[in-house]
Amino acid sequence: MFKKVLSVCMLFAFLTNTFAQENLIINTYNRSSTSLGGNWKYIIDPYENGYYNYRYEPFDQQESPQASAFFMNSKPKDRSDLLEYNFDAVDSLNVPGDWNSQKKELLYYEGTLWYKKSFDYTPAKTPSRQFIYFEASNYKSEVYLNGTKLGTHIGGFTPFNFEITGIVKKKDNFLIVKVDNKRLKEGIPTLNTDWWNYGGLTRDVSLIEIPLNFIQDYFIQLNHENDKQIKGYVKLNGGVISNQKIIINIPDLGIKKEFVTDDRGYVSFEIIADNIRYWSTENPFLYDINIQSKEDEITDQIGFRTIHTKGDQILLNNIPIYLKGISIHEESPMREGRGHSLEDAEQLLQWVQELGCNYIRLAHYPHNEHMIRLADKKGILVWEENPVYWTISWDNPKTYQNAENQLSELIDRDKNRASVIIWSMANETPNVPARNTFLTKLAKYTKSKDPTRLISAALEQSDYQGNKFIRTIDDPFADVVDILSFNQYIGWYDGLPEKCSKIIWKITQNKPVLISEFGGGAKYGLHGDKEERWTEEYQENLYVETLKMLEKIDQLQGFSPWILVDFRSPRRVLPKIQDGWNRKGLISEDGNKKAAFYVLQNFYKNKTSPNKE
Ligand code: GCU
Repeated sequence: MFKKVLSVCMLFAFLTNTFAQENLIINTYNRSSTSLGGNWKYIIDPYENGYYNYRYEPFDQQESPQASAFFMNSKPKDRSDLLEYNFDAVDSLNVPGDWNSQKKELLYYEGTLWYKKSFDYTPAKTPSRQFIYFEASNYKSEVYLNGTKLGTHIGGFTPFNFEITGIVKKKDNFLIVKVDNKRLKEGIPTLNTDWWNYGGLTRDVSLIEIPLNFIQDYFIQLNHENDKQIKGYVKLNGGVISNQKIIINIPDLGIKKEFVTDDRGYVSFEIIADNIRYWSTENPFLYDINIQSKEDEITDQIGFRTIHTKGDQILLNNIPIYLKGISIHEESPMREGRGHSLEDAEQLLQWVQELGCNYIRLAHYPHNEHMIRLADKKGILVWEENPVYWTISWDNPKTYQNAENQLSELIDRDKNRASVIIWSMANETPNVPARNTFLTKLAKYTKSKDPTRLISAALEQSDYQGNKFIRTIDDPFADVVDILSFNQYIGWYDGLPEKCSKIIWKITQNKPVLISEFGGGAKYGLHGDKEERWTEEYQENLYVETLKMLEKIDQLQGFSPWILVDFRSPRRVLPKIQDGWNRKGLISEDGNKKAAFYVLQNFYKNKTSPNKE
C-alpha cells in the first residue's frame, strides 16, 4: 500500500513541479521541520557549464546525464578519470543569505551559482512523506536531490517545495540547487529595478516531514460580508482524501466543529460565532486555531478582522482608520544583504513603531514570513506587493503567468494573516492598453483567490486638463483597484520643496487615497541650509512641505513615505553621497536617524483620526 501511495505522490509531485506550486505546504512556520541552513558548498558558473553540454543542451534533459553535470556531484572513478569540478574542494556560503554580501567577488555577480548540501536523514515517523521547502530563492532555481531532478521554480521572493519521498535516503544525501539571478526582459521583475539584485538562497531551506495524508492548505478568515461568521476551507493531500473527517477547534471561542471532505479532499465551511474578539491595531488578538484530520494536526495563530472601503474611507472592523505608514525594502539592518531573520524583522518593526506607524508597505516584492507574523502580533497593517515593477513585458503570456504564479504563492503563504490588508498588483507601470489588460486580469485573479482583502497599485498621476499645478489620477486602472495609490516626488524629482505649496490635488474618484511614496535623499550627517540638495535639512524641509500639501487631499487616508532605511541600488552612483546606496531613507544603513525622521514621527503623533469622520 505504501509503495502505491508513494508512486502516486511522486507522480503528483513531478507533475506539479512544472506548474504553479499547487502542492505548496502552508504554515510551515508551525510545522516540525529540519532546517538545512548553515554552510553550503558553492561553485560560481557564469557560463552554466555544469548545466549545458557544449551543444547547449541541458544535461538534465538527457537520458543518461553525463558525469560532468554538476547536479550529479560526480567523483573521479580512478586517478586517470577526467572530471572538472569537485564540490568537496570548494568554499562555502551561508544559507540563508544572498551571495552578493558574503563574498567580495560576488558583490555584483549576476548569473548561475551552484549550491550543494550533504545531509543524513532519519524519519521521525514511518510511514511519512518528506518535502524540501524553500522560503525563497532569487531568481530561477533548478533543484536536484541525489542526482534526481525535483523541479524548477521561477520567482525570487515566494516559497516553493518539492516532494522527496522515496528519493531521500538515511545517509549521504546531496541536495544541489542551481540558482540564476540574471535579470530578464520577460522576467518579474524585469531588467530595470531600483534595488540590488541579491541572488541565491536568500531565505532558509527546510526538510519537512508530514503524514502520508496531510493538511496541505487552509484558509480561515472572517467573512468579509458578515463579521459574525468565520469562513474558509481545508484541503487534504495524499492517500485517501475523500470523505475524511476534519475537525476545526477554536478553544477561546468554544468552537469545535466537524466537517467531511469531498472527493477532491476539500471542504469549505462557515461557523457562526457571536463573541469574537476582533483583531485590530490597538488589540492584535490572535486565536489559536487547531485543525485535525485522521493523520495530521496543525495549529495556527489567526486574527479575525474585516477590512473594507466605504466611499473614500478605509474601514477596519467598520471603523474608519488612517494609515500612518512607511515603505520598507527587505534589507537586513543587522548586517549587509537581504533580510531574512526574525532579528532583522524585530529591528525594522521596532523603528516602525518608534516612528509611530500602524502600517507598512513592503516594497516591491514579498518579504520574508517573519515580517508578516510579527506584524500580526504587533498590530501593524501590511501592504504586500507583487514585483510587477516599471517596464514589464506586458504582451508576453509567460510573463503574465509568472506574475500570477508569484502572486498565488504569496497569497497562499499569507492569506491567513490578519495584518495583511492590501495586495498590490504593481508599482509605477505605464498607462498603456497592454498593461491595463495585464493588471486587470491579475486583479480579477486576486479577488477570486482572496475576496477578503483590498487591492491597490502605485498608479500613474498626471496634470489635470493640462494644468501643471493641478494633479489628478486619470489612470484607467483606478477603476479596478479598491484604493487609489500613487508615488509623487514633488520637491525632489519635480521642482524644489517650495513647489508643494503651489500644487492642488484634484482626485475625482470616490475612493480612498493612499500615497504609496514620497520623499527625497539625504546623506546622514551632511548638514547645510534647506536649499542644499543631499543635506538632512533639505530632506527635513521636503517632508514639512509635502505633509502640508498632502493634508489638503480630502480623500487622503494615509501614506507610506519612501523609505525607512537607506538601501543598496546599483543605479545610485554619486560619489561620496550615494556610493551605490539610495539615500531616501529616514534612517541610514548604519541605523542613524536623520532629521526628517522626527518630522514624520511628530506628524504621526499628532494625527489621531482620518481626515473627515
Ligand atoms: C520610485 C520607485 C522606487 C524608487 C524610488 C526612488 O517611485 O517606486 O522603487 O526607489 O522612486 O526613485 O528612489
